Amino acid sequence: MGKLDGKVALLTGSSPNIVGGIAEGLADEGAKIVSVDIFPGFANGCAEAINERGGEAIGLVCDVTNEEQVQATVEQARQHFGGVDILVNGAVIFNWAGVVDMPVEQWRHQLDVILTGNFLVTKHVSRLMIEQQRKGSIINIISTAGHQGEPWNVAYSTGKGGLLNFTRSVAMELSGHGIRVNSLTPTATDPSEGKERAGRWGVEWPRPRPYTNPRQGPGGNARAGSPLRTLPSPSHYGKAAAFLASDEAEMITGFDMRVDAGALAKYWIWDPSNDSGP
Ligand SMILES: NC(=O)c1ccc[n+]([C@@H]2O[C@H](COP(=O)([O-])OP(=O)(O)OC[C@H]3O[C@@H](n4cnc5c(N)ncnc54)[C@H](O)[C@@H]3O)[C@@H](O)[C@H]2O)c1
Repeated sequence: MGKLDGKVALLTGSSPNIVGGIAEGLADEGAKIVSVDIFPGFANGCAEAINERGGEAIGLVCDVTNEEQVQATVEQARQHFGGVDILVNGAVIFNWAGVVDMPVEQWRHQLDVILTGNFLVTKHVSRLMIEQQRKGSIINIISTAGHQGEPWNVAYSTGKGGLLNFTRSVAMELSGHGIRVNSLTPTATDPSEGKERAGRWGVEWPRPRPYTNPRQGPGGNARAGSPLRTLPSPSHYGKAAAFLASDEAEMITGFDMRVDAGALAKYWIWDPSNDSGP
Protein backbone atom coordinates (compact mmCIF):
# COMPACT_ATOMS: atom_id res chain seq x y z
CA MET A 1 0.00 0.00 0.00
CA GLY A 2 1.41 3.35 -1.04
CA LYS A 3 0.50 6.76 0.40
CA LEU A 4 -0.80 7.85 -3.01
CA ASP A 5 -2.57 4.75 -4.29
CA GLY A 6 -5.33 5.65 -6.75
CA LYS A 7 -4.13 9.24 -7.20
CA VAL A 8 -3.03 10.92 -10.43
CA ALA A 9 -0.11 13.39 -10.38
CA LEU A 10 0.69 15.86 -13.16
CA LEU A 11 4.21 17.32 -12.99
CA THR A 12 5.75 20.05 -15.16
CA GLY A 13 9.43 20.38 -16.01
CA SER A 14 10.09 16.64 -15.85
CA SER A 15 13.83 16.61 -16.54
CA PRO A 16 15.98 13.77 -15.16
CA ASN A 17 16.91 16.02 -12.26
CA ILE A 18 14.49 17.38 -9.66
CA VAL A 19 11.03 16.81 -11.13
CA GLY A 20 12.13 13.45 -12.57
CA GLY A 21 13.12 12.47 -9.02
CA ILE A 22 9.85 13.77 -7.58
CA ALA A 23 7.86 11.88 -10.24
CA GLU A 24 9.62 8.66 -9.25
CA GLY A 25 8.98 9.39 -5.56
CA LEU A 26 5.25 9.91 -6.16
CA ALA A 27 5.03 6.85 -8.43
CA ASP A 28 6.75 4.72 -5.77
CA GLU A 29 3.90 5.66 -3.42
CA GLY A 30 1.33 4.50 -5.98
CA ALA A 31 0.49 7.66 -7.96
CA LYS A 32 -0.12 7.49 -11.70
CA ILE A 33 2.07 10.06 -13.42
CA VAL A 34 1.56 12.61 -16.20
CA SER A 35 5.03 14.01 -16.94
CA VAL A 36 4.92 17.31 -18.83
CA ASP A 37 7.84 19.10 -20.47
CA ILE A 38 8.47 21.33 -23.47
CA PHE A 39 11.24 18.94 -24.50
CA PRO A 40 9.82 15.62 -25.75
CA GLY A 41 12.83 13.60 -24.54
CA PHE A 42 12.12 14.65 -20.94
CA ALA A 43 8.30 14.34 -21.08
CA ASN A 44 8.50 10.86 -22.59
CA GLY A 45 11.75 9.75 -20.89
CA CYS A 46 10.25 10.38 -17.45
CA ALA A 47 7.06 8.45 -18.29
CA GLU A 48 8.95 5.53 -19.85
CA ALA A 49 11.25 5.26 -16.83
CA ILE A 50 8.26 5.11 -14.49
CA ASN A 51 6.52 2.48 -16.61
CA GLU A 52 9.74 0.43 -16.57
CA ARG A 53 9.80 0.61 -12.74
CA GLY A 54 6.33 -0.95 -12.68
CA GLY A 55 4.37 2.31 -12.40
CA GLU A 56 1.84 3.84 -14.76
CA ALA A 57 2.70 7.04 -16.62
CA ILE A 58 2.19 9.08 -19.79
CA GLY A 59 4.40 11.85 -21.11
CA LEU A 60 2.89 14.99 -22.67
CA VAL A 61 4.76 17.71 -24.52
CA CYS A 62 3.56 21.20 -23.56
CA ASP A 63 4.84 24.76 -23.31
CA VAL A 64 3.48 25.89 -19.93
CA THR A 65 3.38 29.53 -21.10
CA ASN A 66 0.85 28.68 -23.83
CA GLU A 67 -2.70 28.53 -22.45
CA GLU A 68 -4.13 26.46 -25.34
CA GLN A 69 -1.40 23.86 -24.90
CA VAL A 70 -1.93 23.80 -21.14
CA GLN A 71 -5.70 23.30 -21.57
CA ALA A 72 -5.12 20.50 -24.08
CA THR A 73 -2.61 18.83 -21.74
CA VAL A 74 -4.96 18.89 -18.75
CA GLU A 75 -7.74 17.52 -20.99
CA GLN A 76 -5.47 14.68 -22.19
CA ALA A 77 -4.65 13.84 -18.56
CA ARG A 78 -8.39 13.75 -17.79
CA GLN A 79 -9.11 11.53 -20.78
CA HIS A 80 -6.28 9.12 -20.00
CA PHE A 81 -6.44 8.83 -16.21
CA GLY A 82 -9.89 10.32 -15.41
CA GLY A 83 -8.62 13.47 -13.65
CA VAL A 84 -5.79 15.00 -11.63
CA ASP A 85 -5.32 14.86 -7.83
CA ILE A 86 -1.78 16.20 -7.49
CA LEU A 87 -0.02 18.99 -9.40
CA VAL A 88 3.70 19.71 -9.12
CA ASN A 89 4.76 22.95 -10.84
CA GLY A 90 8.48 22.71 -11.59
CA ALA A 91 9.11 24.01 -15.13
CA VAL A 92 11.89 26.58 -15.17
CA ILE A 93 14.59 28.21 -17.24
CA PHE A 94 17.84 29.32 -15.67
CA ASN A 95 19.81 32.42 -16.63
CA TRP A 96 22.62 34.14 -14.83
CA ALA A 97 21.88 37.83 -15.37
CA GLY A 98 21.67 40.82 -13.04
CA VAL A 99 19.46 43.88 -13.07
CA VAL A 100 22.05 46.16 -14.67
CA ASP A 101 22.76 44.07 -17.73
CA MET A 102 19.74 41.80 -18.28
CA PRO A 103 17.92 42.34 -21.61
CA VAL A 104 14.20 42.89 -21.00
CA GLU A 105 13.27 40.06 -23.41
CA GLN A 106 15.17 37.59 -21.20
CA TRP A 107 13.51 38.99 -18.07
CA ARG A 108 10.06 38.60 -19.65
CA HIS A 109 10.76 35.10 -20.97
CA GLN A 110 12.14 33.79 -17.68
CA LEU A 111 9.28 35.23 -15.61
CA ASP A 112 6.80 33.96 -18.19
CA VAL A 113 7.97 30.38 -17.60
CA ILE A 114 8.31 30.69 -13.81
CA LEU A 115 5.24 32.79 -12.95
CA THR A 116 2.83 32.63 -15.91
CA GLY A 117 3.51 28.93 -16.49
CA ASN A 118 2.76 28.16 -12.84
CA PHE A 119 -0.38 30.31 -13.02
CA LEU A 120 -1.74 28.69 -16.20
CA VAL A 121 -1.20 25.09 -15.15
CA THR A 122 -2.63 25.78 -11.67
CA LYS A 123 -5.62 27.55 -13.24
CA HIS A 124 -6.61 24.66 -15.49
CA VAL A 125 -5.78 21.83 -13.10
CA SER A 126 -7.63 23.49 -10.22
CA ARG A 127 -10.69 24.08 -12.46
CA LEU A 128 -10.74 20.35 -13.19
CA MET A 129 -10.28 19.47 -9.50
CA ILE A 130 -13.21 21.76 -8.59
CA GLU A 131 -15.40 20.37 -11.39
CA GLN A 132 -14.70 16.79 -10.28
CA GLN A 133 -14.83 17.70 -6.55
CA ARG A 134 -11.37 16.24 -6.00
CA LYS A 135 -9.65 17.44 -2.83
CA GLY A 136 -6.37 17.84 -4.63
CA SER A 137 -2.90 18.91 -3.62
CA ILE A 138 -0.82 21.48 -5.50
CA ILE A 139 2.93 21.85 -4.89
CA ASN A 140 4.95 24.74 -6.31
CA ILE A 141 8.70 24.26 -6.52
CA ILE A 142 10.62 27.24 -5.12
CA SER A 143 14.36 27.58 -4.43
CA THR A 144 16.43 28.99 -1.59
CA ALA A 145 17.13 31.79 -4.13
CA GLY A 146 13.46 32.74 -3.78
CA HIS A 147 13.96 33.41 -0.05
CA GLN A 148 17.33 35.16 -0.11
CA GLY A 149 19.07 37.86 -2.14
CA GLU A 150 21.09 36.02 -4.75
CA PRO A 151 23.08 38.37 -6.97
CA TRP A 152 23.14 38.01 -10.77
CA ASN A 153 20.00 35.90 -10.72
CA VAL A 154 17.41 38.65 -10.58
CA ALA A 155 14.55 37.17 -12.62
CA TYR A 156 14.88 33.72 -11.06
CA SER A 157 14.99 35.09 -7.49
CA THR A 158 12.07 37.43 -8.22
CA GLY A 159 9.96 34.72 -9.83
CA LYS A 160 10.60 32.18 -7.09
CA GLY A 161 9.89 34.80 -4.38
CA GLY A 162 6.65 35.55 -6.24
CA LEU A 163 5.68 31.88 -6.21
CA LEU A 164 5.89 31.84 -2.40
CA ASN A 165 3.03 34.32 -2.20
CA PHE A 166 1.25 32.84 -5.22
CA THR A 167 1.13 29.68 -3.08
CA ARG A 168 -0.42 31.45 -0.09
CA SER A 169 -2.94 33.38 -2.19
CA VAL A 170 -4.10 30.33 -4.15
CA ALA A 171 -4.15 28.23 -0.96
CA MET A 172 -6.69 30.65 0.51
CA GLU A 173 -8.72 30.85 -2.70
CA LEU A 174 -9.03 27.07 -3.10
CA SER A 175 -9.39 26.19 0.60
CA GLY A 176 -13.19 26.09 0.39
CA HIS A 177 -12.89 23.26 -2.13
CA GLY A 178 -10.57 21.26 0.10
CA ILE A 179 -7.71 21.77 -2.36
CA ARG A 180 -4.40 22.24 -0.53
CA VAL A 181 -1.66 24.42 -2.02
CA ASN A 182 1.88 24.28 -0.66
CA SER A 183 5.39 24.91 -1.86
CA LEU A 184 8.59 22.92 -1.59
CA THR A 185 11.94 24.65 -1.40
CA PRO A 186 14.95 22.76 -2.75
CA THR A 187 18.45 24.16 -2.70
CA ALA A 188 21.75 23.47 -4.48
CA THR A 189 21.26 19.84 -5.41
CA ASP A 190 23.68 16.93 -5.69
CA PRO A 191 23.88 16.29 -9.47
CA SER A 192 24.68 12.54 -9.23
CA GLU A 193 21.07 11.37 -9.39
CA GLY A 194 20.27 13.66 -12.32
CA LYS A 195 23.21 12.21 -14.26
CA GLU A 196 22.27 8.64 -13.36
CA ARG A 197 18.66 9.21 -14.41
CA ALA A 198 19.73 10.86 -17.68
CA GLY A 199 21.81 7.77 -18.45
CA ARG A 200 18.89 5.50 -17.69
CA TRP A 201 16.51 7.60 -19.83
CA GLY A 202 19.06 7.85 -22.65
CA VAL A 203 18.99 11.69 -22.74
CA GLU A 204 21.48 14.51 -22.36
CA TRP A 205 21.12 16.47 -19.09
CA PRO A 206 21.53 19.31 -18.49
CA ARG A 207 20.42 20.46 -21.92
CA PRO A 208 22.00 23.51 -23.52
CA ARG A 209 20.60 26.63 -21.81
CA PRO A 210 18.64 29.20 -23.87
CA TYR A 211 20.86 32.05 -22.66
CA THR A 212 24.57 32.07 -22.20
CA ASN A 213 26.03 34.48 -19.74
CA PRO A 214 29.63 34.94 -18.63
CA ARG A 215 28.57 34.42 -15.02
CA GLN A 216 28.24 30.80 -14.02
CA GLY A 217 26.19 31.01 -10.88
CA PRO A 218 27.11 31.70 -7.29
CA GLY A 219 30.64 31.20 -6.12
CA GLY A 220 31.46 29.28 -2.96
CA ASN A 221 31.34 25.69 -1.97
CA ALA A 222 27.71 24.72 -1.47
CA ARG A 223 28.53 21.44 0.21
CA ALA A 224 30.82 23.12 2.78
CA GLY A 225 28.16 25.76 3.52
CA SER A 226 25.43 23.21 4.10
CA PRO A 227 24.57 22.77 7.80
CA LEU A 228 24.13 19.03 7.22
CA ARG A 229 27.50 19.04 5.34
CA THR A 230 25.94 17.43 2.31
CA LEU A 231 23.50 18.45 -0.43
CA PRO A 232 20.01 17.10 -0.97
CA SER A 233 19.19 14.87 -3.94
CA PRO A 234 15.98 14.84 -5.99
CA SER A 235 14.83 11.67 -4.19
CA HIS A 236 14.80 13.66 -0.91
CA TYR A 237 12.41 16.14 -2.55
CA GLY A 238 10.37 13.20 -3.84
CA LYS A 239 9.77 11.90 -0.30
CA ALA A 240 8.75 15.35 0.95
CA ALA A 241 6.43 15.89 -2.04
CA ALA A 242 4.81 12.48 -1.46
CA PHE A 243 4.07 13.49 2.13
CA LEU A 244 2.67 16.91 1.16
CA ALA A 245 0.50 15.32 -1.53
CA SER A 246 -0.81 12.59 0.76
CA ASP A 247 -3.72 12.51 3.19
CA GLU A 248 -1.13 12.52 6.01
CA ALA A 249 -0.77 16.26 5.25
CA GLU A 250 -4.53 16.91 5.20
CA MET A 251 -4.26 19.89 7.60
CA ILE A 252 -1.31 21.50 5.79
CA THR A 253 -1.97 24.28 3.30
CA GLY A 254 -0.26 27.57 2.43
CA PHE A 255 2.99 26.13 3.81
CA ASP A 256 6.53 26.13 2.43
CA MET A 257 8.41 22.91 3.12
CA ARG A 258 12.16 23.47 3.02
CA VAL A 259 14.20 20.45 2.02
CA ASP A 260 17.46 22.37 2.11
CA ALA A 261 19.76 20.59 4.60
CA GLY A 262 19.24 23.57 6.94
CA ALA A 263 20.43 26.23 4.47
CA LEU A 264 17.72 28.80 5.19
CA ALA A 265 17.87 28.36 8.98
CA LYS A 266 21.61 29.08 9.08
CA TYR A 267 23.00 32.20 10.75
CA TRP A 268 24.75 33.95 7.91
CA ILE A 269 28.15 34.37 9.53
CA TRP A 270 28.44 30.76 10.75
CA ASP A 271 30.65 28.50 8.62
CA PRO A 272 29.69 24.85 9.19
CA SER A 273 32.89 23.62 7.52
CA ASN A 274 34.91 25.17 10.39
CA ASP A 275 32.77 23.73 13.17
CA SER A 276 32.97 20.10 14.19
CA GLY A 277 30.11 20.47 16.68
CA PRO A 278 29.86 19.82 20.42
N1 LIG B 1 18.89 22.38 -9.64
C1 LIG B 1 18.90 23.05 -8.51
O1 LIG B 1 19.94 23.14 -7.84
C2 LIG B 1 17.63 23.70 -7.99
C3 LIG B 1 17.68 24.31 -6.73
C4 LIG B 1 16.53 24.86 -6.21
C5 LIG B 1 15.34 24.81 -6.92
N2 LIG B 1 15.30 24.20 -8.15
C6 LIG B 1 14.01 24.14 -8.83
O2 LIG B 1 13.65 22.79 -9.11
C7 LIG B 1 12.91 22.73 -10.34
C8 LIG B 1 13.60 21.80 -11.33
O3 LIG B 1 14.96 22.20 -11.48
P1 LIG B 1 16.02 21.31 -12.28
O4 LIG B 1 17.34 21.62 -11.73
O5 LIG B 1 15.55 19.92 -12.33
O6 LIG B 1 15.93 22.02 -13.70
P2 LIG B 1 16.02 21.41 -15.18
O7 LIG B 1 16.52 22.51 -16.07
O8 LIG B 1 16.74 20.13 -15.17
O9 LIG B 1 14.48 21.16 -15.49
C9 LIG B 1 13.60 22.20 -15.84
C10 LIG B 1 12.68 21.66 -16.90
O10 LIG B 1 11.71 22.65 -17.27
C11 LIG B 1 11.46 22.49 -18.66
N3 LIG B 1 10.87 23.71 -19.24
C12 LIG B 1 11.50 24.89 -19.51
N4 LIG B 1 10.64 25.75 -20.09
C13 LIG B 1 9.45 25.09 -20.18
C14 LIG B 1 8.18 25.45 -20.70
N5 LIG B 1 7.96 26.68 -21.24
N6 LIG B 1 7.17 24.54 -20.66
C15 LIG B 1 7.39 23.30 -20.12
N7 LIG B 1 8.58 22.90 -19.62
C16 LIG B 1 9.60 23.80 -19.64
C17 LIG B 1 12.83 22.18 -19.25
O11 LIG B 1 12.74 21.57 -20.53
C18 LIG B 1 13.42 21.26 -18.18
O12 LIG B 1 13.17 19.91 -18.47
C19 LIG B 1 12.83 24.16 -10.85
O13 LIG B 1 11.61 24.75 -10.46
C20 LIG B 1 14.01 24.83 -10.17
O14 LIG B 1 13.83 26.22 -10.03
C21 LIG B 1 16.42 23.66 -8.70
